[in-house]
Amino acid sequence: MWGGRFAAGPSAIMREINASIPFDKALWREDIRGSRAHVAMLAAQEIISAEDAKAIDEGLQAIAAEYEAEGVPENWDLEDIHMTVESRLTDLIGPTAGRLHTARSRNDQVATDFRLWTRAACERAEQGLIALQTALVTRAGENADTIMPGFTHLQTAQPVTLGHHLMAYFEMAKRDVSRFADARARMDECPLGSAALAGTGFAIDRNATASALGFTRPTANSLDSVSDRDFALDFLQAAAQCAIHLSRLAEELILWASQPFGFVRLPDTLSTGSSIMPQKKNPDAAELVRGHSGRIMGSLTSLMVTMKGLPLAYSKDMQDDKPPVFEAAGLLDLSLAAMQGMIAGATFNADRMRAAAEAGFATATDLADWLVREAGIPFREAHHITGAAVKLAESQGVALDELTLDQLTGIDARIDDRVYRALSVDASVASRSSYGGTAPDRVREQVAAARQALGMDR
Ligand code: ARG
Repeated sequence: MWGGRFAAGPSAIMREINASIPFDKALWREDIRGSRAHVAMLAAQEIISAEDAKAIDEGLQAIAAEYEAEGVPENWDLEDIHMTVESRLTDLIGPTAGRLHTARSRNDQVATDFRLWTRAACERAEQGLIALQTALVTRAGENADTIMPGFTHLQTAQPVTLGHHLMAYFEMAKRDVSRFADARARMDECPLGSAALAGTGFAIDRNATASALGFTRPTANSLDSVSDRDFALDFLQAAAQCAIHLSRLAEELILWASQPFGFVRLPDTLSTGSSIMPQKKNPDAAELVRGHSGRIMGSLTSLMVTMKGLPLAYSKDMQDDKPPVFEAAGLLDLSLAAMQGMIAGATFNADRMRAAAEAGFATATDLADWLVREAGIPFREAHHITGAAVKLAESQGVALDELTLDQLTGIDARIDDRVYRALSVDASVASRSSYGGTAPDRVREQVAAARQALGMDR
């Protein structure tokens, strides 16, 4: 393509370092789609003849059929997907193929192709998140009354309901959906027609190509257009945040599936066995979701570092934008699918969860609250009295509600037998009925609102 300027061909090293076809062939559909929109516009603007446009368009469709059937050939001499398609078009229709690149550069071409690809990746992530939300809401609805220990510092804190815990992840997924949708709205401008960097002297119609490719409008500044990868970073930022959430949920499933917890059994279809320990069932899918999150966050870091020192406009460094986005998108799709499957197929052990909630003096705050409410004691003093009760129960090896009334009144005479109603885990969760709280009735309301938002009952 630039042979005229050089005395010798590129060295083998140059050929290899320059080639992006091994990975950017993933853009072939977007590349052909962008070229078809471009050529239709060139003809409509009478920049090329209708006859040439027809030959080019038919050639592009033939190439699409070939790639669909046989994959994209990988020839490093052709560098990238754009030159690979153009070269094949020349084989098929001859020199007319050369008219396709009128009023265009690979710089606006790659920016357009990559945007189209990234926009679809955002849509896939949103769909995957909605499927996960559906599973979370379903399981939360089934478990609005299932009592489990709530933790802070991974120490038993207060009893909560499993439904409430699962709905916490629903909220995270909801924010993730909005981040992908927001990224998609911001990338809704078409760079095609920005040409190499400065625009073009041909009388192109950028609105026409933008709308043919499903964008609301063309980008406003050609220099920005060919050097902007914010859309890819927006996608990766949303993906990284989503991966953090998935990793936290994965970590909880891994803990809960361990024998000392025994809160959950993960579906066999998403677990593996051990080759030497027959009793084992390992939560590999959850571990890999946790592991993949590191690679997704690494992809974000990779592209941020690639971009941070680049002057306007295009620099070849930007060719390295694609592998991290492709990798992160693939890992995220898989992680979302695996997590959806684990949540939908998990078997929760309500007895183990309840026993754990009852074991850790989880209702101590309820005793303190009761002292405040029923005996008019200031909270700080009530906290102190409760601490003494916990200490006594611990030394006797009993639960708080197994202390006798004599033992309790021995600690503070203002306690009476009504206190036992506050000390059960059921009473505790039922009492936490503030907006957003863990009370089963509140959880049912959250679930109902979520089901409605997702259109689950239509
Ligand atoms: N393969 C290149 C990329 O992915 C296409 C753009 C090349 N532009 C150029 N001026 N060399 O970034």
